[in-house]
Amino acid sequence: MSASISVTSRVAEAAADAVAEVLRAKPGAVIGFPTGATPLGLYEELAARDLDFSRVTAVALDEYLGTPPDDPRSFSAYLRRHVLGPLGIGRAILLDGTPDSDVVLATRCTAHENAIRAVGGVDLQVVGIGANGHLGFNEPGTPFSSRTRVAALAPETRWANAVAFAPDDVPAASLTQGLATIAKARTILLVATGDAKADAVAAAFDGPVDPSCPASLLQRHPDARAVLDPAAASGLSRRGRGLTDIVENHA
Ligand code: GLP
Repeated sequence: MSASISVTSRVAEAAADAVAEVLRAKPGAVIGFPTGATPLGLYEELAARDLDFSRVTAVALDEYLGTPPDDPRSFSAYLRRHVLGPLGIGRAILLDGTPDSDVVLATRCTAHENAIRAVGGVDLQVVGIGANGHLGFNEPGTPFSSRTRVAALAPETRWANAVAFAPDDVPAASLTQGLATIAKARTILLVATGDAKADAVAAAFDGPVDPSCPASLLQRHPDARAVLDPAAASGLSRRGRGLTDIVENHA
């Protein structure tokens, strides 16, 4: 147990080093932050360091369709709670998951793309990975050319995210940056921990570059890094290991 806690915190440290490096090079960097359980250690680690995020612009990766920004289950609320507040980031480009007509939702998605472009694009996009290989809420089968849009959630994603919702209330759809939007980031940092991610990580770094595993697009990106714990890395071949940073159990 203690080994797994310490390896998790070393993953957080290694990921925080990568974020700090971007911040050092560009104090006004535009950084995309994911939600989920995986990056919580990274956010705690960043908050504990003496880093100045005051000139940073944070960008949301995705949002449930159905949770307005003031809903504590929304990703906007998560980002305020774990990222914007603790890191002292004043400028954020968030996605509003309030239900509305298709036209209004499409306008919101276009506005997200435009807002990202207006700040000069994303310097660093941090991402987690779904157990089915999704990035953001881009489920298997999503074209690599996709842009920010409304996207249905796969049944397994709904299960994985159900814990915060009443059984009949789990969102069926999302607003998510598209795969082409994510791939435009100058640097992408994937963070993954635990056995449940091992197959997805193996497909992402050892499998074919194919929409059946959205995260496989990282193989084509000029500056994609991955910080993994040994459990998440356990399905990788030697080639896949060469493409990733694996934080070992014993430092
Ligand atoms: C969600 C989010 C993803 C996140 C993934 C993994 O579906 N849309 O952005 O990376 O789940 O989450 P976790 O880190 O909790 O496993």
